[in-house]
Order: sequence, then structure tokens, then C-alpha cells
Amino acid sequence: MLHKQLKPFPENFLWGASTSAYQVEGAWNEDGKGPSVIDMANHVQGVTDFKVTSDHYHRYKEDIALFADLGFKTYRFSIAWTRIYPSGTGELNAKGIEFYNNLINELIDKGIEPLVTMYHFDLPYALQQKGGWSNRETIDAFENYAKTLFEHFGDRVKYWLTINEQNMMILHGSAIGTVDPNLENPEKELYQQNHHMLMAQAKAMKLCHEMIPDAKIGPAPNISTVYPASSKPEDVLAAQNFNAIRNWLYLDMAVFGRYNATAWSYLEEKGYKPTILEGDMEALAGANPDFIAFNYYSSATVKHSDINGEARNSVGDQQIAIGEAGVYAGAANPNLDKTEFGWEIDPTGFRATLREIYDRYNLPLIVTENGLGAFDKLEEGDVVNDDYRIDYLRKHLEQAQLAITDGVELFGYCPWSAIDLVSTHQGSSKRYGFIYVNREEFDLLDLRRIKKKSYYWYQNVIKTNGAEL
Ligand code: BG6
Repeated sequence: MLHKQLKPFPENFLWGASTSAYQVEGAWNEDGKGPSVIDMANHVQGVTDFKVTSDHYHRYKEDIALFADLGFKTYRFSIAWTRIYPSGTGELNAKGIEFYNNLINELIDKGIEPLVTMYHFDLPYALQQKGGWSNRETIDAFENYAKTLFEHFGDRVKYWLTINEQNMMILHGSAIGTVDPNLENPEKELYQQNHHMLMAQAKAMKLCHEMIPDAKIGPAPNISTVYPASSKPEDVLAAQNFNAIRNWLYLDMAVFGRYNATAWSYLEEKGYKPTILEGDMEALAGANPDFIAFNYYSSATVKHSDINGEARNSVGDQQIAIGEAGVYAGAANPNLDKTEFGWEIDPTGFRATLREIYDRYNLPLIVTENGLGAFDKLEEGDVVNDDYRIDYLRKHLEQAQLAITDGVELFGYCPWSAIDLVSTHQGSSKRYGFIYVNREEFDLLDLRRIKKKSYYWYQNVIKTNGAEL
């Protein structure tokens, strides 16, 4: 739709940016922190591990001062479950509570609204050893962890996100390390874990509403509009299949507490159907998220897959779909450019995604990740000319404004990432931040903070409430 006049970004729009604990904090075994699945995983060869990352744990004051200078209204970060409960449950670690109290107080002191992800990929290893999300006791452990967070931080944290990108943990399970890829039917196990995570999420949302009635809570999946590779009806059906499995399964459960029909028939057909015990569906119902947060990097394009096709249930990574025999097959979109890491760039798809989510659920939306990973270059005089990042973000914000004009209720935008950090599987050289961290893949150098060109650009965007993009 072409609009004669654009609506402005709303007043009090939550401009900010995001990080996650294991990718930014470092201090992986300090002050009583227990190991997480990330700490114990065989990390990818040729890139750094997560032991020091950007050392935010020790430098959070300096970093928050920069966030304030940049003008952030909000900062989305995650709490490391293993700092609070080193073994996932049991004894509370006072030092972990102290660290996040300090971080939250520092943000509030600087006028920045904390936006907290409760769990961002880093499941406590002690729970994993007992079966992780395959074990129903992990649901109780998460509920207990949630209760602790609400008790200790609920007086100051009014925006909560439950689980980051649960859909990617399932579709990309072996990479995140939640399931043994050598199992006879790893997908069935993953969907069982998925069911348990969904229950944990629903319980946390209900608890949040009970314990902090003035707070808001929502899910945080990675949602991408799915295009059919052509107008062939078979390709359209393939797009519907992938949409149901990739996107709606997760949000329909979070919002309506039910499996959608296409996703369920897929689970039945493939033999991935989770075991549902008496009372589970009641536990899933009525969680009533206050908003939907979602991460968007790219759209997806798929085509029909013959039943005998070679593809199994797999994505190359979060943004590269491979396919599954008889369900869908990933396809390239010839209309889109790609990042250096092969992710397609689709700002218009961002508008389409915003519209689809809002139309389906009619809940306020916040974008909790969006951004461009690149090999930034530090030039002489501490300059980083990341014009490509500005271009990416600008185009996405233009589409966000169009979506707002379309009627979408968008209340915040938090690109990935506030500051350089370590990528999920491509090391520290794949940078996303507004602030450059001076380190190399295997040499920590001085870890000093340097403002990139995008820093100054985003500062002005926030200052003008998006009037100047
Ligand atoms: C999202 C994750 O999938 O994408 C982040 O929530 C991640 O943790 C981000 O860092 C970018 O992906 P990557 O693989 O480039 O780090």
C-alpha cells in the first residue's frame, strides 16, 4: 500500500539495542557462576570461545555510560541463569543477584528502561546432565528461576522476555546443544523439549502477572515472513508449511495455547508428535502475553519438496533454510542482496513480517533483534566506517515506519547488537555493534570501546525520534 503521509514513530518509542549474557559478559566462571551448555559445548573450530567475549561483566558501567550517551531508551540484555542458580536450581548465588542488581540500577540511574530476556540459549549444564529440556523437571526449574527473578528484580524491571528464539533452538537444535544428534529420532526429542519449553514459558508468564501486575511479559522468537519461490500452488503450500513450522507453531502456543493444525499434522506425519500429559494443555492455556517480541534478520523463500527429496529437517543456520523432504525446500530469492555471511537482506520483508504478526495476534510488537553482521575494519584514528550497517538499519526502519502507518502497533526497536560481541557460531570477527570492541579472534588486545559511524547515526535517529533516518 502506498501512503500519502507517513505516521511518525510513537511518542515514548523504546529505542534501544540488544545483547545476550553469554555473548557479551565473559567472566564465564567468575563469582560462583556455574557452567552452561554453551560453556561445555565443543565450540566451533577456528573461532573464539565465550570465556571473555567483550568483558561486559567487568566493564558494564563504561558500556552503560556509552549506551546513555547514544540515547538508548531501553537496553535488552539477558540474565545468565547459571549466575543466579549455578546448578539451575537449588542454591542461589548471591553474587549473581548482586551483579544484575548493579546492572539494573546503573541503567535506571541513566534513565534506560531494562528489557530482560530470562533465557537466551545458555541452559545450566547441571540441568542438561539430567536430560535438559527432555526432563519435565526442567519446567519446574525454570518456573523457580522465574520466581527468583521476579522477586529480586520485579520492583525495577517492567519488561520481560521469556525465551529467546525457542524456534531456532528447535529447528537448529544440534547447534545449540540441547539434543544429542546421534539419537535415533532427534527431531521427536526436540519437539518433546519444545513442548516442555512452551509449558515453562506459559508458567513464567502467569507467574509474572501474579507477582508483578504492573509488568509486561512476552515471548521472543525469530519470525520471518515466508515467500513461495513461485506462484505455483505447490510452492504456496510449501510456504504455508514452513510458516506453520517455523513461525506460527511458537506464537500460536504462546498466545492461544494451542498447536496450529498444519504444524500438528506435520508432527503426526513425521513421527515427531510430543507426548502430552494430562493437564499440559491447561497449563499452556491462558498465559496471555502482553506483547510479542521478535527477532528479524531476513525473510525465507521455499519451494515444493518431493516426498523423496534429499532434504531433512534442517536449517543451514538461523537464517538459511535447507528444507525437509515432502514439506518444503529452501530456495534462494533472486530479488535480494546478501550479507557477507550469506544472509539475504529484505527490509520490505520486515514490513510484511510486522503486518503478518500484528494481523494474526493483535498484540503490541517490539523488535528485539535486527542487524547486520560484518567484518568491520578499524581504521587509523579509531574510525569504523560501517556505512553498510547504517544502510541496512535505515532501510529496515523506513519499513518499520511504513508498517506503523499500515496500523501496526510497534512500541520499540532494539537492533542486534548494542556493542560488538561474539556471534553464536561465527566468532568475534562477525560484528554487529554500534560500539567496536578492540579485540581479535584469539588476541584480546585491549578490549577498548570505540564508537562506530553507525553509533553517531543511531544517536541522531533516537534524538529525532526517527524523524531523521
Ligand atoms: C539470533 C540470536 O539468532 O541471531 C543471537 O538470538 C545471535 O544470539 C544473532 O547472535 C545473530 O546471529 P549470529 O549467528 O550471527 O551470531
